[in-house]
Amino acid sequence: MFERRHLLGLEGLSAEEITFLLDTSESFREVSEREIKKVPTLRGRTIVNLFYENSTRTRTSFEIAAKRLSADTINLSASSSSAQKGETLTDTARNLAAMRPDAIIVRHPSSGAPHLLARHVDCPIINGGDGAHEHPTQALLDLLTIRSHKGQIEGLTVAIVGDLLHSRVARSNLFGLRTMGARVRFVGPPTLVPPHFAELGAELVSDLHEGLRDADVIMMLRIQRERMNGRYFSSLDEYSRLYCLSVEAVGKARKDVIILHPGPMNRGVEISSTVADGPYSVIMDQVTNGVAVRMAALYVLVGRRRGTEAAGEDVPAEPVPLRRAVAAE
Ligand code: CP
Repeated sequence: MFERRHLLGLEGLSAEEITFLLDTSESFREVSEREIKKVPTLRGRTIVNLFYENSTRTRTSFEIAAKRLSADTINLSASSSSAQKGETLTDTARNLAAMRPDAIIVRHPSSGAPHLLARHVDCPIINGGDGAHEHPTQALLDLLTIRSHKGQIEGLTVAIVGDLLHSRVARSNLFGLRTMGARVRFVGPPTLVPPHFAELGAELVSDLHEGLRDADVIMMLRIQRERMNGRYFSSLDEYSRLYCLSVEAVGKARKDVIILHPGPMNRGVEISSTVADGPYSVIMDQVTNGVAVRMAALYVLVGRRRGTEAAGEDVPAEPVPLRRAVAAE
């Protein structure tokens, strides 16, 4: 079961909670394969997408997920909100909350922004990515993709390669993968792989080929130039010579390796097109699974009895039985 009011990160979630979210996501995957991709689960509910950073996958898939659950959706970006006129994030969220939405999904460049909102509004908050902190639904869709292809997560070796320092995806994956029993290697130049990640359970490796040795899963990350305020390598050319995932580098991993990338990809920088579009790539499966994971997150957090929320209790009432929730209209 998942009895939390918000989904702010994977840090601290138990293996049972993560498994419940993955199992629920799997149940919703089938809805997107139907001709009529809609179930009545969240009819009459309102979901707000509050995005202070650009997004292709997260924002679109949350909107598609909400619509497939029959919820009404509102999209608000920093450029179209009154943040431009000096309104604080908390005031924006309080005003949105006063219109009684059933959940707010927030992406923000500052770490901790969703946690701040969770203290000031009375509806569930879902973290759609906060600074370099966490991106829980991305990690859940990564875990779902890995579990679907490998049958299990426990015992796998997962190499996460690239700009670990600025990656909320890597942090959420580290928490989720370790909790589910995987071995995690962080691979990249020492300037982008700070030593404190070892305390969180990652093995740190600076050589790409060594880091990929016998890996079951490779997850490539892009260089997040928008978050860098210093020089972490001498040139992008040099970085890609050392860390771009080529066919030769993939050969160091296990023969049945799968390759993930959360997107957006910078082809030719961290991953070659031959690999990104090649037989080991499951990158488009990740995107497809993203809709199912976000349907599950909305169902688990929003599809529960209003009475307990009005009473201010963080205790979910009996959820609609899943079979009924995903049944066709
Ligand atoms: N993976 C991810 O968060 O992609 P977007 O920035 O496009 O949402």
